[in-house]
Amino acid sequence: MSTMKNIAILCSGGDVSGMNAALKRFVEYSKRKGMIPYFVKEGYEGLIDDRITEAHYADVAGIISRGGTIIGTSRSKRFMEAHYRAEAIGNLRKYNIGYLVVLGGDGSFRGMQKLSDECDDINFCGIPSTIDNDIAGTEYSLGVDTALNVIKFSIDSIRDTASSFGRAFVIETMGRECGYLALVSALTSGAEMCLIPEIPYDLKAYESLFKKQQKEGRHYFISIVSESLHKTKEITEWYKETLGVEARFMVLGHIQRGGNPTVHDRLMAFHFVTHGIDAMLAGEKSSVICYNDGGFDRKEIADVSFKKATIPDDLMQLGMEYGHLE
Ligand code: F6P
Repeated sequence: MSTMKNIAILCSGGDVSGMNAALKRFVEYSKRKGMIPYFVKEGYEGLIDDRITEAHYADVAGIISRGGTIIGTSRSKRFMEAHYRAEAIGNLRKYNIGYLVVLGGDGSFRGMQKLSDECDDINFCGIPSTIDNDIAGTEYSLGVDTALNVIKFSIDSIRDTASSFGRAFVIETMGRECGYLALVSALTSGAEMCLIPEIPYDLKAYESLFKKQQKEGRHYFISIVSESLHKTKEITEWYKETLGVEARFMVLGHIQRGGNPTVHDRLMAFHFVTHGIDAMLAGEKSSVICYNDGGFDRKEIADVSFKKATIPDDLMQLGMEYGHLE
């Protein structure tokens, strides 16, 4: 276990709503544990360039309701190079930092693992933070609930116009290669179509189903399509040509990453950070805090960052009902 007393935190990769709640808990819990907390600005970039400052209560006052991260984030290419990581380690040592919390996704954790392998006097802990919910080993990543609620709000609004005009709307959601956001959003918004990379789809089956529904009086459609499929415009044209309905597409984009964090994300941020700091103080050299079956546990980075995340079976079952005649 590290003999150093100071502790730092950084955000890496895409920001999520809930990061500020995590920063607040970090400062308050570190101080409670008798440590001096530090912020690293703009992720690994700031770690390389020594943008490290002591964190105070005043820094985190009033931030809990804000999306994004007050300390900034980055996707650092330089961090892939060993000599920059050596500078990062040097900077941590300069401030007598023996513990580092990393809020990020699996790419950020792979970087963290490298850093951990290259020094034996600093403990590291990862907190899964990505709207994509694509980290293997944890059912939940910080920011997912807020993103889902932003998407829900957007689809509910779009439905008003879709139903008023009798149009089809094709809505593209983020998530990289993972269809979790799209699937949960489609189910909870009552969408008629859901296309995600994990489930093969058949447009012919959708055509038969939708034509039958049109005969029965359906006059508008909502479709949710994962960004990784790159099919948004194609599906919009399909609606016009195959079903003869007016169609529009909406790429929700970065609106999904921001906004007032939900109660769930604020609370999860508190729990994740508490468990993360406890893990490092207990001597864990390099771990990720995961949430499964209603509880938190610590996992090796290898069990989190080098495996493919899957969508839970019960959601997949529901997802597979899309596009099939009843
Ligand atoms: O990983 C989070 C995420 O928002 C993905 O859903 C999306 O594909 C990507 O980041 C967008 O990245 P950027 O903000 O760099 O454009």
